[in-house]
Amino acid sequence: MIETDYLVIGSGLAGLTFALRASAHGRVIVATKRAPADGNTSWAQGGVAGALDPDDGVAAHVEDTLRVGDGLCHREVVEICAREGPEHILWFADELGVPFDRDAAGHLELGREGGHTARRIVHAKDTTGWAIQEALLKRVAARGERITLLPDHMAIDLLTTAKYGGPNAVFGAYLLDQRTGEVVTVVARAVVLATGGSGKVYLYTSNPDVATGDGVAMAYRVGARIANMEFFQFHPTVLYHPAAKSFLISEALRGEGGILRLRDGTAFMPRYHEMKDLAPRDIVSRAIDAEMKRTGDDHVDLDMTHLPGDFLVERFPNIHRRCLELGIDMRTQPIPVVPAAHYSCGGVAVDERGRSTVKNLYAIGEVSMTGLHGACRLASNSLLEAMVFGARAADDVRDVQNPHPAGVAPWYAGEAGSPDDAVVVSHNWDEIRRLMWNYVGIVRTDRRLERAARRIELIRSEIRDYYWNVTITGDLVELRNIALVADLIIESARRRPESRGLHFNLDHPDHDPRMMRDTLVTRGDGPVV
Ligand code: SIN
Repeated sequence: MIETDYLVIGSGLAGLTFALRASAHGRVIVATKRAPADGNTSWAQGGVAGALDPDDGVAAHVEDTLRVGDGLCHREVVEICAREGPEHILWFADELGVPFDRDAAGHLELGREGGHTARRIVHAKDTTGWAIQEALLKRVAARGERITLLPDHMAIDLLTTAKYGGPNAVFGAYLLDQRTGEVVTVVARAVVLATGGSGKVYLYTSNPDVATGDGVAMAYRVGARIANMEFFQFHPTVLYHPAAKSFLISEALRGEGGILRLRDGTAFMPRYHEMKDLAPRDIVSRAIDAEMKRTGDDHVDLDMTHLPGDFLVERFPNIHRRCLELGIDMRTQPIPVVPAAHYSCGGVAVDERGRSTVKNLYAIGEVSMTGLHGACRLASNSLLEAMVFGARAADDVRDVQNPHPAGVAPWYAGEAGSPDDAVVVSHNWDEIRRLMWNYVGIVRTDRRLERAARRIELIRSEIRDYYWNVTITGDLVELRNIALVADLIIESARRRPESRGLHFNLDHPDHDPRMMRDTLVTRGDGPVV
């Protein structure tokens, strides 16, 4: 058994921001299931939203966030993030040394993205997340005496005092060392979920393979409140190419003037919204989905060819290089794109300090639901939220005292796996992702949701049957988590008989004023178990 002050699960922007700040007052273990840079942060292209331009203001950022959030943002949280964000961005730029792009006078260059009424996206070319991740990892390595990174350690489940006869407080986690197959018990004063998102619950996603909703699943299992899981954001433009898996074509391209066109060249966004190609993401994704269904085409095009070629190569070197490798020169050819699952606006419900409803369990970054995003996230508000809440949670844990029970039980190792386990895992995995895409995707109906609910129940009972009887593996842990997350999304969508933000149901196409509230699910209060 390993003891520490703070156990962070996940090594992206939120987790490492927390670790750096909390290491000033305690020892931190950061457990991460693959390599430390294998996560959504590294893949983030666009940037961080912050009102840094003298002509912009916190109030405008707040208003844009509230408008896109479609009535469900928590205003006080939006104000906190918009107000505190710029200070954090400047710390990352000036103290941590993230190489954000600057103009000739040395000021941070600000980009534009959908839903924003001003230029306020701080970026490092089109690999902003990678630049942030690299700088954080370097600083964490320099704090080696206070922060221990455990790569290839996958959290299986949280430890809670409820199992030992006390009130429900989290005091650690079981971690599977994926290199040895051993399960390590870590106890801590506070556990911080920073596990990122769950895009892998859908067949097509912009997310890396690690995005399997582990944090939400673990939190639900120990009784934490989960909120707004029906609001899954589909990014309008992921590259459509048989050889390209999950490659995002950043919204920043439309921010710089890119135009969405049908394959015959018709620009269609003016028919859908007055902000045209820079309309909020839910509207752009639904428009593309509707046009693809109407025309029968398997993608639409993003046209950048009217912009100067030199500018495109300088501003978007990564996207340019990747497209070129696949035979698409964006200076002269349109980029084929489709929508794909991108960001979970729902997650573990937390307060303004990142505290979940279970004592000593925190959640920060995409795994959490702070109230910032409401029913639809404004572009580039996610890295912002990770910075702000990573810091806030680190300040809050300072005084947490959490004596753990004596005689913590080791993990029960299970039996040897049977030969058909691998096929069961891959079959169930595939079935979940397909059913989520087809029945719980961009456009939903009551009947599709009902069907999805029936199927997920069967799949989950099959998973339960063998989960406890075979030797645990990372794949099995992920499958169990993704199935639970799928169930939570379906259940939450069924509890919202209206259309709002990212949740669009053809049987209830309008807002229902009675549904101006978060969808809250806690173990024991309904059918998901
Ligand atoms: C993008 O670059 O389009 C992604 C930005 C975001 O999801 O906030």
